[in-house]
Amino acid sequence: MEGVPSEGGLTPFPLGRPARMAVLASGRGTNLEALLQAFPPGNPWGEVVLVLSDNPEAYALERARSRGVEAVALPWRGRRAFEAEALALLAQKGVDLVLLAGFMRLLSPGFVEPWYGRLLNIHPSLLPDYPGLHVHQRVLAAGERETGSTVHFVDQGMDTGPILLQGRVPVLPGDTPKTLESRVLFLEHRLYPKAVRLLLLGLAFPPPKGLGGLLGEEAARRFEALSPRERPLYLRAWALLRAWGQEALAGLAFLGQGGVWGQGAFLTAHLLAQDHPALRAELATLPEAVRTRAEAVLKRVESPL
Ligand code: GRF
Repeated sequence: MEGVPSEGGLTPFPLGRPARMAVLASGRGTNLEALLQAFPPGNPWGEVVLVLSDNPEAYALERARSRGVEAVALPWRGRRAFEAEALALLAQKGVDLVLLAGFMRLLSPGFVEPWYGRLLNIHPSLLPDYPGLHVHQRVLAAGERETGSTVHFVDQGMDTGPILLQGRVPVLPGDTPKTLESRVLFLEHRLYPKAVRLLLLGLAFPPPKGLGGLLGEEAARRFEALSPRERPLYLRAWALLRAWGQEALAGLAFLGQGGVWGQGAFLTAHLLAQDHPALRAELATLPEAVRTRAEAVLKRVESPL
């Protein structure tokens, strides 16, 4: 997308060329399959160039090989050995972005820190609720009426990093962990590629330090008061204003005073995560300059090819 600055320290994206991605998976790899389909060789967004697994039996490895993608098993002999080999392979293959997809090991700070902002995970719950294992059983036992999935930046905790994108599905009468799992997986197979596209466009990044200096103290305080689930909307709106040459309005937009550009950025930021007829209708009432930019980015993310 034109105009999203790649400099300034907020995000290394957009790269200005197709991205080289690696996927780390420990098991059956249905999310890997969705990523392989979304980002095949020659895709203008980027391609999966490497699949790594700590489990030599992982079906994920087969899936990659059957599509001609290099797949390497690094049997677990401890974190230090695995991470050293994985980091070397990522460097060797010139990888820009690492995607965890059913990868069942916790990565150490030595791995996470240099990749922070370029290392994503998908988790089958509406984080920060239900981190960890056996999510669907726990969601059912708690009597939740809604669940979903979260793509997040990986930090040093387990399922704790800043949220990039979430999707929701209902919990229905008669649901079992199995029915819930397949409903959430269906969602995940669309959510993960979309989250990657948002990242590659420069529309998603972890909240930067020193927000007050970038947006003004009042806007920074407003942002800090948001819940982890609300924050990505504001970051997307900010990135859109940057892309549209209206960054000076970002602080005001956070406070609801960004005029039609602010309104357009927030409507678009919301629609990028989830379609909504009322918001589409509202967008259609905005001045043409705002509307055309909004529509261009929505089209880009929704009809990716
Ligand atoms: C997915 O539900 C993902 O959210 C979680 O592990 C599961 C992996 O499934 N991290 P698959 O291997 O991609 O089919």
